Amino acid sequence: MKKIILSLAAVVAAASVLGAQEITQEAKARARELVRQMTLQEKIDYIGGYRDGFHIMPVERLGIPEIRMADGPQGVRNNTRSTLYACGVAAAASWNPEVAMMMGKGLGQDARARGVHILLGPAVNIYRSPLCGRNFEYMGEDPYLAGRMAASYIKGIQSQGVMATVKHFALNNQEYKRHHTSSDADERTMNEIYFPAFKAAVQEAGVGAVMTSYNLVNNVHAAENPYLIRQKLRKDWGFEGIVMSDWTSTYSTLGSVKGGLDLEMPRAFYFKYEFIKPMIDSGVISEAEIDEKVQHILQTLIAFGFFDRPQKDTSIPEDNPYSREVAYRMACESAVLLKNDGALPVRPGRNSRTVLLGPNADRIPCGGGSGRVDPLYSISLKDGMQQLGKRFPVKFLLPSEEGSLDYDTPENVKAIEDASTVVVSVGFDINTEKEDHDRTFTLPEGQDDLIDFVLEHNDNVVVVVYSGGGVDMSRWNGRVSAILMGWYPGQEGGLAIARMLAGDFSPSGRLPMSIEARPEDNPSFNSYYPVKPQTKRGATNDNVTYTEGVFIGYRGYDRSGTGPLYPFGHGLTYTEFEYGGLSVTPAGDGFDVRFTVENTGEYDAEEVAQVYVGAVSPSVPRPYKELKGFAKVSVGKGQKKEVSVHLGKEAFEYYDVERHGFSLEEGRFRILVGASAEDIRLEGEVVL
Ligand code: BGC
Repeated sequence: MKKIILSLAAVVAAASVLGAQEITQEAKARARELVRQMTLQEKIDYIGGYRDGFHIMPVERLGIPEIRMADGPQGVRNNTRSTLYACGVAAAASWNPEVAMMMGKGLGQDARARGVHILLGPAVNIYRSPLCGRNFEYMGEDPYLAGRMAASYIKGIQSQGVMATVKHFALNNQEYKRHHTSSDADERTMNEIYFPAFKAAVQEAGVGAVMTSYNLVNNVHAAENPYLIRQKLRKDWGFEGIVMSDWTSTYSTLGSVKGGLDLEMPRAFYFKYEFIKPMIDSGVISEAEIDEKVQHILQTLIAFGFFDRPQKDTSIPEDNPYSREVAYRMACESAVLLKNDGALPVRPGRNSRTVLLGPNADRIPCGGGSGRVDPLYSISLKDGMQQLGKRFPVKFLLPSEEGSLDYDTPENVKAIEDASTVVVSVGFDINTEKEDHDRTFTLPEGQDDLIDFVLEHNDNVVVVVYSGGGVDMSRWNGRVSAILMGWYPGQEGGLAIARMLAGDFSPSGRLPMSIEARPEDNPSFNSYYPVKPQTKRGATNDNVTYTEGVFIGYRGYDRSGTGPLYPFGHGLTYTEFEYGGLSVTPAGDGFDVRFTVENTGEYDAEEVAQVYVGAVSPSVPRPYKELKGFAKVSVGKGQKKEVSVHLGKEAFEYYDVERHGFSLEEGRFRILVGASAEDIRLEGEVVL
């Protein structure tokens, strides 16, 4: 146990100052002059979406160009085919901000190739429950990890001259009745868990736009919510960019104008001249309030250079080699090996007979809704294995009837019985995991039965799961030999996973959320759906109260003592790592945590070393530990590397409801270093 004493004053004095988004004085002045020249009609028309609902209108007489938007987090969509990257939760599972930045650059280039100015991503709502239909687009359960990954992804997009949009602000943690459900959380929970990724997007990455969510937050619609928009975004975080609504998520003219929304999408329903003009005439709304919205939009578009150059870059091909390469790299880095009793890697050779089957074996599934992207091509697991040719001889089995999961016809049974390894590819797709719907924790119908059936005929079964989050594995977890979580891995996913199974490289993804053994173990289980639907006369909303507070995901498992099936941060490789030599020394505004990671096995691999911090005797209930730093390090077999992770003062803070801000409290803090939230290898302590 290392103990380090540091004076509180020293920590506070060195507080880091984060740069706000760069919208220059020049951009503001140019926008102000345009606003001055616009008529009231032009200004009101300007604050509603245009054409197909993915445009901001031009004002030709003033040289204001038409602006084009497109979804979304895992590829450029809307009337185009383009590179399909791994989905958001997969990107987070890479635990590699560098690759997230590359993905952002690829997306930015894909957007420039198509003349898209504004990309509607990333999506950073916290994974509260596996049931949320859009978890696949989001970045997991931890605010620190989501913030790191989102900031890098945004910087990548914006480095290409494309504006990113962080969404959906805020607490869009379920799809159930999304227009009519109020996510009710206390101030501390919002600020510690649900806001940090948005704050990082604004303050660290300088994101150009924020999209509000469908749901209400504490009984006020997000698009009309002054606490979210005026207090948090504008005042506390200094956001000067565009606040747009989600598509049809506005509910009144007055609320949307006063709440601080700038742009109503996909078009003006409530921001209509005939609604707003009479309110201005009667003094309910001032023209200055409309000017402010137009100013926000124009100054941001100008700052991004959209008025001064064509957005379409014809030198970038639509099927961009860089994007393809990044999509492949992301697929390689994101798959998480949950379990392996030695079945993997499959050592292809003369004696190995691998059989592949299952509903997702011959396609690359993707989540549904606005996150769905139609790729230019995709490589399924079957294609990927076949591309490895003689190195990975594989027999692909078709079900007895197209579209069924029935493999019980005699050749299939014999092939399964004769196989040295059976790979079963299961999971969700655009129909079963999608926007506007929540999903089941259990796999889609028939898939558990399929795994059982295969296990009846062979005991060396590898399950590859495609999904946006955890699934119920209780029926087969103990009996299969290996489980690989492939998420929605993007167009190159089949090749990446085939090569990983074949042992060309070691898996290196780690879970960005916990997978519970039983649905009732999830900390939000009792409050995910409204406990009692609202019955008050005239009430139209359901209330979901976030009763678990800040104790979500591993924070909740630490408190309840219920172990998850697979913990946050977990992921196996084809080797073993040993940790040692912990030192924690004062540095800058906090501490440097140093340790060594040694690869003691037979494979070159990457380890994700995680640094957690926990207050020992806090004055308010705080999680036992919280992720505050991590490093993905590549360590050759037999090699040892030194890792250094800096913990700034914010790593020790909590949200103080008395001060309405983050506070640092004196006392002892545990510093835990490990390979997952449940696999802590080194422990130290500091005293502030
Ligand atoms: C989704 C947004 C998306 C928008 C435009 C909405 O339904 O919630 O995430 O950007 O549609 O497609």
